[in-house]
Amino acid sequence: PVLVVDFGAQYAQLIARRVREAQVYSEVVPSSSTAEDLLAKNPSAIILSGGPSSVYVEGAPGMDPKLVEAGVPILGICYGHQLLARALGGVVEPTGVREFGRTDVRVVGEGGRLHAGLPGHQTAWMSHNDSVTKAPEGSVVTASSDGAAVAGFEDVDRGFAGVQYHPEVAHSPHGQEVLRRFLSDIAGIKPQWTTSSIVDEQVTRIAEQIGDGRAICGLSGGVDSAVAAALVQRAIGERLTCVFVDHGLLRAGERTQVEQDFVAATGVNLVTIDARERFLGALAGVTDPEQKRKIIGREFIRVFEQAERDLKAQGDYKFLVQGTLYPDVVESGGGEGTANIKSHHNVGGLPDDLQFELVEPLRLLFKDEVRRVGLELGLPETIVQRQPFPGPGLGIRIIGEVTADRLETLRAADAVAREELTSAGLDREIWQCPVVLLADVRSVGVQGDGRTYGHPIVLRPVSSEDAMTADWTRLPYEVLERISTRITNEVPEVNRVVLDVTSKPPGTIEWE
Ligand code: XMP
Repeated sequence: PVLVVDFGAQYAQLIARRVREAQVYSEVVPSSSTAEDLLAKNPSAIILSGGPSSVYVEGAPGMDPKLVEAGVPILGICYGHQLLARALGGVVEPTGVREFGRTDVRVVGEGGRLHAGLPGHQTAWMSHNDSVTKAPEGSVVTASSDGAAVAGFEDVDRGFAGVQYHPEVAHSPHGQEVLRRFLSDIAGIKPQWTTSSIVDEQVTRIAEQIGDGRAICGLSGGVDSAVAAALVQRAIGERLTCVFVDHGLLRAGERTQVEQDFVAATGVNLVTIDARERFLGALAGVTDPEQKRKIIGREFIRVFEQAERDLKAQGDYKFLVQGTLYPDVVESGGGEGTANIKSHHNVGGLPDDLQFELVEPLRLLFKDEVRRVGLELGLPETIVQRQPFPGPGLGIRIIGEVTADRLETLRAADAVAREELTSAGLDREIWQCPVVLLADVRSVGVQGDGRTYGHPIVLRPVSSEDAMTADWTRLPYEVLERISTRITNEVPEVNRVVLDVTSKPPGTIEWE
């Protein structure tokens, strides 16, 4: 793999994705990794990410100096560029010229392998205080800017390159090309990470893991579990049974959709379990978001265990398939050294006494890769292009205690919002639009001739590429107006509709 060393910025995930877009497999690793840790993974190249620190600050994360002796090609980006330059004997200084945002970067000389033939002036995204003022011995300077004398350097013979700017962000129009060139022209890596190779590799792995055993797969109706199930089905066929848990936290129409669409597309064995009372009971009186997530995660497993007992007559179901994605793993604190933002129900919400062995064929994939895998496996667009919906469902969209009445209110409001967004043709433009009920907040309204004292509904439309970061979507006012009018008219408990205009960060996509 190509290892992306995460120096604590938002950018490491993005770099990993861009590398995969260049059809090369990549993984994010923490900056605390030693040279031995990294080399043990047999990397074809290493990319040092940006980070918020200055290389001079005491305790700033560093790179193991032994790394440059290992014969592995290295690309440094931003902070990583400075670390690499310094490790190779270059000079990094606080020059007093800070560059932030869109910056004019000039190609120097021939531009080296990374910049040759690109426009002499290009816009690139910068974010730095310190700069490399002298390139390492034996390397050539390939780019510069007003604030960074050495905005790019290369030592092709040893396989090293650095860029001060961020090639991974969309604001650096030539960035993807620069990354691609590093991988192919400096590191000599062939682009082989294609959708069909992902499918082959995962199917082989799953078949090895499960052997002649049997597996249960929880279907949520979402893309991830559907694709995970289809992959496992390809690997073990009839020995897979899908379980759809109706936990009562679903949106309108979801159950039928799974029971019809997915089964029609795959012909898989499906068991539906009505667990509405069980989940509502377990959630009674609970308001804390993390506690809700953990309860829902635990109850899912309990239901799967029950299903396993019910299916005993067919054989032993020892394996549980989950559609856990790479960002879930990282955000639940699984990508060592990262903070636990929230416990995604199928990662941080698992009980300690889990009876199953987990099969997680998507654990290393990003959402766009999962969608491509789904199409490759022949799943229909209606499933593959579905907007994300969290496993804990409406349970984490009711701010306050979850009750049957509140669920009914939220379901009705959500159905209106979805209907209007779909009929306005906005489904592909937005990543998802959580509809949230502020169950513990009330506000005064006037409807008909009387006073009302109802609850607000929050609309949270977001645009995103991978849910790691997101921006709020500027929906047309007419659409917002229709949603607001209809919800306040059609949903009795609701007398106010508000719009969430927060990006991620600082807000997360869901409210809990
Ligand atoms: P946040 O709220 O963390 O959400 O910005 C990022 C994406 O993940 C979805 N999400 C979940 N999906 N189980 C899931 O399957 C969960 O526990 C969970 N929590 C959040 C959320 O809808 C968004 O797409």
